[in-house]
Amino acid sequence: MAAEVVNGTHVKLNDGNLMPLLGLGTWQAAHESVTEAVRRALEAGYRHIDTAYSYMNEEAVGEGIRRWGGDRQEVFVTTKLPLIAMGGGRVEKFLRKSLKKLELEYVDLFYAAHESVTEAVRRALETGYRHIDTAYSYLNEEAVGEGIRRWGGDRREVFVTTKLPLIAMGGGRVEKFLRKSLKKLELEYVDLFLLHCPFGLLYRDDDTLHPLDADGNLVVDYATDHVALWKEMEAVRDLGLAKSIGVSNFGTAQLRRLFAIAKIPPAVNQLEMHAEFQQPDMVEYSRQTGLVLTSYATLGSPGRKGTPFGVGIVIPSLLDHPVVRVISELTNKTSTRISSNVGIVIPSLLDHPVVRVISELTNKTPAQVLLRYFVQQGIVVIPKSVTPARITENAQVFGWQLPASAMDALRTLDRGEEARSFMLLRTRGFELHAECPVTITTSNS
Ligand SMILES: NC(=O)c1ccc[n+]([C@@H]2O[C@H](COP(=O)([O-])OP(=O)(O)OC[C@H]3O[C@@H](n4cnc5c(N)ncnc54)[C@H](OP(=O)(O)O)[C@@H]3O)[C@@H](O)[C@H]2O)c1
Repeated sequence: MAAEVVNGTHVKLNDGNLMPLLGLGTWQAAHESVTEAVRRALEAGYRHIDTAYSYMNEEAVGEGIRRWGGDRQEVFVTTKLPLIAMGGGRVEKFLRKSLKKLELEYVDLFYAAHESVTEAVRRALETGYRHIDTAYSYLNEEAVGEGIRRWGGDRREVFVTTKLPLIAMGGGRVEKFLRKSLKKLELEYVDLFLLHCPFGLLYRDDDTLHPLDADGNLVVDYATDHVALWKEMEAVRDLGLAKSIGVSNFGTAQLRRLFAIAKIPPAVNQLEMHAEFQQPDMVEYSRQTGLVLTSYATLGSPGRKGTPFGVGIVIPSLLDHPVVRVISELTNKTSTRISSNVGIVIPSLLDHPVVRVISELTNKTPAQVLLRYFVQQGIVVIPKSVTPARITENAQVFGWQLPASAMDALRTLDRGEEARSFMLLRTRGFELHAECPVTITTSNS
């Protein structure tokens, strides 16, 4: 049943409260700009402000509301429980911390952001998935662990992967961070533990996952030593904390070095790989060495939005879209321009005409075609979805074959390096790192 819209400006929640259809988002906004933005928005007639404990700007939001000076009861304020607060009975404590920062007595809506991950994991396991991919830096290991427990089945049936964060790649921190992940997951071991990236970021403390310099650039740790790191990875496997160990986002040059020195060679390389970016050299290398490849972004990762670090992202130029411009002229309403930070184009694989034709001819969905293409080559896929119907759809990639002609057609979609769409490897400064696995041809500045 669709939600009821009230006065054309509000929507009725299932508890009877009204929520304004237009709210001011505040993620990724610095302190003073948020205060002024909130004040101006309220003066302009907004009555809904969205923040979160983890946006680290609740004080500024509260200050903006006070500077505006109007009636608190007129404003609908939402905040969100941080992922670090989802275990150990910490909900009330963290909501009180948010209220203190906001200097408010109540919020109108309180979100549990982790719930979608927990439910997605539970549903996926119920649907028959037996492989869950997470990472320390996804900040959702607690939610993943909770999803496994809610499912209630035998832990030994589930293959759980997690990854070492980039800030833990020096100083002998591998075991410590794996133990932190296990604690969050509430598991005794993971099935696969990966080095998330070939190079590290400067370690400041356990929680600063993205250390920045005064200019706002990520601080790269140029001292990453793969050989020493791999010895630490072997040690955690020997301790039984990880059943298998591997890498992610590695190139063939770094893999060759690891294979040359390893007592336990890497079992897996997880990397961006999809119909337009098939990485044939890596596929050939994996065939020669027995390394298993895991494709991420197999569907093109269409859910990406702008992030502060350019970790793979485009900000769509909707405001410059010709149709929006025409409507803007005809209706005499403005369309504000985005002036910068337009980066990499996210591939539209689900809409690709070749994928759609194969989908129609095989009576499978575009997502199933894209996933099956890699599964049929023995490449692992880890499609992400929090949508129940898609979780089921994406699981149905076994028990049928794409015909050879379809495999050939999909192979022709590869556009090579220019189709790489995760820009982590092209973050400013990484090109100077000895372990940077790609030739930098563009800047994401
Ligand atoms: N090692 C690394 O550096 C690295 C980097 C990136 C990703 N990864 C891993 O790889 C996983 C997958 O990558 P990804 O999430 O970036 O990309 P992806 O799996 O290609 O795409 C996920 C997006 O596609 C949507 N989607 C899922 N199934 C769909 C379907 N059947 N039809 C239409 N849309 C569908 C999802 O939406 P809904 O959720 O709304 O349904 C979500 O927005 C990640 O979750 C992560 O575990 C690893």
